Amino acid sequence: MRKLRKIIFPTAGMGTRFLPATKASPKEMLTVVDKPLIQYGVEEALAAGMDQIIMVTGRGKRSIEDHFDISAELESNLRNAGKEELYKEVSRVARMAEVIYVRQKQALGLGHAVRCAAHWINDEPFGVSLADELIVGETPAMQQLKEVYDQTRCSVIGLMQVPRGEVYKYGIVSIQGETDGLLRLSGMVEKPAVDDAPSDMAIIGRYIFTPRLMQLLKLVTPGKGNEIQLTDAIAELAREEPVYGVPVHGQRFDAGNPGGFLLANAVLGLQHPQYGDTLRKALKPYL
Ligand code: UTP
Repeated sequence: MRKLRKIIFPTAGMGTRFLPATKASPKEMLTVVDKPLIQYGVEEALAAGMDQIIMVTGRGKRSIEDHFDISAELESNLRNAGKEELYKEVSRVARMAEVIYVRQKQALGLGHAVRCAAHWINDEPFGVSLADELIVGETPAMQQLKEVYDQTRCSVIGLMQVPRGEVYKYGIVSIQGETDGLLRLSGMVEKPAVDDAPSDMAIIGRYIFTPRLMQLLKLVTPGKGNEIQLTDAIAELAREEPVYGVPVHGQRFDAGNPGGFLLANAVLGLQHPQYGDTLRKALKPYL
């Protein structure tokens, strides 16, 4: 099988949980401390050697393209003003990856968004990453998945344990068995009621798939919420070939809603080498 280099970032959702902030700007461009969510995601993918980025965008998402594009005017202004560090950073972001943009004309679901990138995948394995799920840690989340992919050459899904009472917010997996620390998955359900949840292990927006997933996705019909669900295709895949779950280590924030986003800014702000101390002192009177 070909080397794993491609990764899809679906960014065409409506972001309804974060309205009105997301009415005119993409939630993937919301900034945590000093850079937008999508940049965290792309840097994580690059750290795992996945350097061919396919961004699935939709209406109102142009600022994502601009963020990763070269702005000659800005770069020359920064240089002329002697702002060398800023120049280097802006120029690094614009050149960090090869990015292809694909349009999802209607937000018909995550599975549909991934399917929109099918043309660019062909018969290659590929990653999928949801940038509003921010995961930070010593080993980037995608790297943790890739290590299992390299070992098994099978599809790998990033997982985290969630409190039983919160299973209704996530895709939840059923675990068939465990060999050598690898969880073999037999299926998954999207946002189950607590009593119907097959486990407390949730899918957290990081995936690596064999090309077969894309073929199965083309056959999926609208499911829960009348959307084309990625989980339906994964469940089908798991019937045909091994799909493994990897408990991901790291701090995870659901930054696609205001509560998780605020927490991400607070925690990463306090941990930040440049801003942490000042922020801690400034916050003291409010705590
Ligand atoms: P979410 O359900 O978190 O995103 O989908 P959403 O639909 O934008 O958010 P809410 O629930 O309305 O607040 C997970 C990811 O899939 C993308 C989203 O952009 C997000 O990154 N997505 C979802 C698409 O690209 N297209 C879709 O049709 C749906």
